Amino acid sequence: MQPIDRAVEILRNGGLVAFPTETVYGLGADATSLTAVRRIFVAKGRPSTNPLIVHVADEETARRFAADWPRQASVLARTFWPGPLTLVVRKAAGIATEVSAGRATIGLRAPDHPVALEMLRAFGGAVAAPSANRSTRVSPTTAQHVRDELGPAVDLILDGGPCRVGIESTVLDLSGNAPTILRPGAVTRHEIESVIGRVELFQGSTDATNPASSPGQHAIHYAPRAPAYRFSRDELDPLLRWLASAGGAPISAVLVGEIPDSLTQIPFALLIEAPKVPEEFARQLYAALRRLDSPDVHAILVEMPPDKPEWAAVRDRITRATQPLPA
Ligand code: TXA
Ligand code: MG
Repeated sequence: MQPIDRAVEILRNGGLVAFPTETVYGLGADATSLTAVRRIFVAKGRPSTNPLIVHVADEETARRFAADWPRQASVLARTFWPGPLTLVVRKAAGIATEVSAGRATIGLRAPDHPVALEMLRAFGGAVAAPSANRSTRVSPTTAQHVRDELGPAVDLILDGGPCRVGIESTVLDLSGNAPTILRPGAVTRHEIESVIGRVELFQGSTDATNPASSPGQHAIHYAPRAPAYRFSRDELDPLLRWLASAGGAPISAVLVGEIPDSLTQIPFALLIEAPKVPEEFARQLYAALRRLDSPDVHAILVEMPPDKPEWAAVRDRITRATQPLPA
């Protein structure tokens, strides 16, 4: 049997299929099956207060799962789908309540990946799929990442190669009064505003005990195993003091700009020079965090890219994966 046919059969029987998208790998189940969706939460160890993104092949299918489909949703779907934009709208009946974590809304997107689209078209319905990682861990951008982390908990892993975008989709909430970006991503605020006019940006994060408007807003998310700290170029002095206090313990790091003279003498366990183009850095970010996070590493340092709009999504993910450098 072809992998896509097997995937569809597994989905129809309430199983779990990990599949590639252009952003990250998803852990998919039939969104209309309560038992199938529950398996996602178990496999991920994910709190049930986190709603899941529902994947569809196209706008027409999306509309079946929405109670209403605002004009803005139509314009955005026509402009950005298939692509890394999730639209949160009021949900129709028929979607398992766990998918929306008890909310009246649903997050829908059509992923821009040939394997995902082929599977979704053949399945014909809605596939609920969070990123295919253990809860709070770094999202997978290769099939091997999924195997490493979820292995036997998944019935089938479709391998579509490394993900092109590398970080999760932009999430835009259209269910309230003002369109609001709940999670920045590859589709930028500027691109959305050029299509539907002004949108708000959700700021800040909620603590993990409260159901967040968006699970990506939980402060601790996408975290590597070793303690990870972020710093900016203007914090090189505190960084050097912190490194001195670490007393030679193995530290790995990712730097955005040129390596400053003051750091060239530091014997990092692993030093990754990040790409200077936001889209490139996004594509490599999670794989880099996994490489930096080897078991013998004492801590991970990540340099923040500049505070500019084109870096918003990468800065958001780094902020969630790290803590500020301890004073
Ligand atoms: O790129 C992506 O979006 C990936 C791939 C697999 O498509 N999926 C993903 O799913 O990142 P997950 O479950 O790891 O992220 C859940 C996100 C939350 O951050 C939240 O913003 C959004 O989904 N979300 C889903 N349903 C929602 C709802 N009803 N209300 C608000 N946010 C919702
Ligand atoms: Mg996730």
